[in-house]
Amino acid sequence: MSLKIRLPQPGGVSVPEWWARLQWWSMRAAQRIESLISRNAWMAERLRFFRAWRADPRGIGAIMPSSAALASAITREVGSHSGDVIELGSGTGAFTRALARRGVAQGAMALIETDPDFARQLRRDFPEAQVCCLDAARLAGEPLFGGRTVGAVVCGLPLLNMPLRQQVGILRGSFSHLRPGGAFYLFTYGPRCPVPRTVLDRLGLRARRAHSVILNVPPAHVWKLTRRSSKAL
Ligand SMILES: C[S@@+](CC[C@H](N)C(=O)[O-])C[C@H]1O[C@@H](n2cnc3c(N)ncnc32)[C@H](O)[C@@H]1O
Repeated sequence: MSLKIRLPQPGGVSVPEWWARLQWWSMRAAQRIESLISRNAWMAERLRFFRAWRADPRGIGAIMPSSAALASAITREVGSHSGDVIELGSGTGAFTRALARRGVAQGAMALIETDPDFARQLRRDFPEAQVCCLDAARLAGEPLFGGRTVGAVVCGLPLLNMPLRQQVGILRGSFSHLRPGGAFYLFTYGPRCPVPRTVLDRLGLRARRAHSVILNVPPAHVWKLTRRSSKAL
């Protein structure tokens, strides 16, 4: 006769002890495998990012993807109310996932990424988004969203590593797609806005520090650029 144990469930059904043990161990094993897989996906993303950085340190601009805290801060004012959104330098999608969590549908996202491997993976991860493997400085005239303007641009580009002419091209192109009242969000690890005052003045833009992310390593600041007047850009 086999030993029976009573499981704490409403019906009080008795099952053989070996069966209960087997179920318990298989549940633990499944949990362990799941956690290993998710840890590996996390590690695989960092490995891909690090490899890309090693191949092009200035172009990638960071050795690891942005933290969830920074992704949350840079997307804080963006959501389904923004309509269509452009993301510059999506990398492995740290900000893209935050945009999705904020309610921006993939179909409302245009992801601009110059690295072909990152662009390929972004197409797999966000199949409904428009992924453009393109230098963000060539955005002007690019037919995104059938000519509709967007509510926000979220920028993950290493602007400080870029010459002024490229920065100006990126801002001109981005604001050509931004509707009146729309905003351009960017981040930096330094205390100052990465876009110099001379460039802001030339383009008629205002910069305001919107959020600080002390928990990021290193601490980061989110800046918000808007037009000073309807005549700007
Ligand atoms: C600092 S990483 C940020 C990646 C991601 N947004 C994040 O925060 O984890 C910068 C990204 O911008 C891309 N990038 C650099 N220059 C670019 C350019 N001119 N146009 C489009 N993407 C560019 C790089 O390939 C890289 O994926």
